[in-house]
Order: sequence, then structure tokens, then C-alpha cells
Amino acid sequence: MDYEACHPAKIVRYRDPAEMAAAYPASAVHYESHGVVVLEDCGIGFDREFIGGLSFAPSWKKIGTINGLTDPPLVMRSGKLVRTANPLCASIGDDVLLLKLYSELLRLELEFKLLVARVLPGYWDATWGNCTFRFTRTENEAIHLDSFQDGKPTPPKFHRPRLKLFLNVDAEPRVWNVGPTLPDLLRLSEGELGAELPTNVNVLCARINASGILSKVRTVRVEIPPRGIVFANGATVVHQVVYGNRMVCLEGLAPKSALQPSSICEWDAARSWIEEAGYAAAPDEAPAATSGHGVAAA
Ligand SMILES: [Fe+2]
Repeated sequence: MDYEACHPAKIVRYRDPAEMAAAYPASAVHYESHGVVVLEDCGIGFDREFIGGLSFAPSWKKIGTINGLTDPPLVMRSGKLVRTANPLCASIGDDVLLLKLYSELLRLELEFKLLVARVLPGYWDATWGNCTFRFTRTENEAIHLDSFQDGKPTPPKFHRPRLKLFLNVDAEPRVWNVGPTLPDLLRLSEGELGAELPTNVNVLCARINASGILSKVRTVRVEIPPRGIVFANGATVVHQVVYGNRMVCLEGLAPKSALQPSSICEWDAARSWIEEAGYAAAPDEAPAATSGHGVAAA
């Protein structure tokens, strides 16, 4: 591995949504070429004092919309308001507090999605997966590329450009280390990853995570300020959370037709990245039978 030549992914910063929207489509080209975008103040409205005082139990570390957290907690049944299966209902006895928290989570989710349509308009009809509310302290995570389902092959219906966006809703900056891009890592790995590599990105990322090379790659420290958003495809940009306290993560899949003309979906590019780096492409394995690859079923 040529660690000296393997630079961290490029990072572009925008002050606010107006500046980021004005930069389109260069902002999309940057994201789609495995760059990192930091939007310093997303302008999304939320009750900062209220959100800043929330803490979820460790078992709720990645709880989100697929768990029903922004489903209505109260519905009318036979003339009476009754509680629903929204997990907040079982945790909060007070109706006012329940509705307050629900309303804050719902507006964070909706404003986040509207913001994406404004600053990256090509993704306006993205298939949104989970929106997680991570109100649990995180520190010194292992450096990695995102991989799900124990590194099993992701089924073809999920082979679309991946969107992964993190909104810092804490009062303190969120701190990341950003490492190299997946194509740079392969190109400069000098055969250290074995003779052949899987072309399924989920399997490939798991293989690289297990290889040990990520512990030695060069990284750059990035601070995401309060109310800032970081846009980074965690499957193609090596990353590590150094510190973070409260964050909202929005995941989705873009249609391939939304990509900029110069961009290639990582699922279509993986084979050529592998072969151009001097590896053989391994025969495909059967995909995992279940979903849960970081996105909802398309
Ligand atoms: Fe990650």
C-alpha cells in the first residue's frame, strides 16, 4: 500500500443552503466523485434547547423512522385519542412531552428531506430509507467503510447511488476523521488485498475493513459545526467518528438517472476499480435474502 500517495478524500464547505444551491451541479459532481461536503449551517429550524437536552438509551443508538418514530403517536378511535405503536409512546407518559418530541423529530425529518431537494435538486425523488435520531454519545469509532448484513452481498435492487447525510443537532461540533476514497484505496493498495476481490460493494467494503490497511491510511480531521450537515457516501469514503453527541442521519438511494453526466454509480464502477488496480474480480456470490442494507427496499 502506498500510504504516502493515498490522500484523504477532498472536502468542500458551503456556509449555508443558498451558497450550496448556487454551486449546483458542481456540488453534486463532488459528492458523486466520493468527495465530502460540509454545509456549515443548514438553516433547519428545531428547538435547540429541547433537542440539546435529549439523550436516548444505548439500545436506541440508531432508532429512526423505520421503527415508527415519526409515525403519529396519537390517533382517533371511536371518538377518543389513543396511543399508537410509535416507540415514543411506551417511553413517555406525559402527552404534552410526547407530542413535543414527536413534532420536533417530524420537522427535523421533513425539513432535512426538503433541504436535500433544494441543495441537490437532482435527488428530489430519492428513495428515502431510514432517518435515524442518534441522541447517544459516540466516541472513537473504528475507521471503516460502511458495510451491512455482516458483509453479505447486497441484492441488485439496492445497487443504486447511495445518499448518506448527517445533521449535527448537538450544541458542540461533531468530529470526524476522513480517509481516502474507495477507488484511491484500491488503486494504491499494491496488491495488499489479495489476488481477487468481490465486485459487490458491500462485500468489498467488509473485506477492506477486515484487511487492516485502514488503520494506517492518512486521514484529515473534520469538524461539523452545530446545525451543520456532512454529505459523504460512507461506502466510498473511509471515515471514523471521533466524537459526536446528537445527530440525525438521513439515508437513501438516488435514481441512477439523477447522477451528473460525468458520474458513475459505485455499483457499476467497482469492477473496473478492482481490475484497474491489478486484482481479479471474484465470481459473484448469491445475495443476502433479506433487506437491511442501510436503506429501505426500493
Ligand atoms: Fe459509517
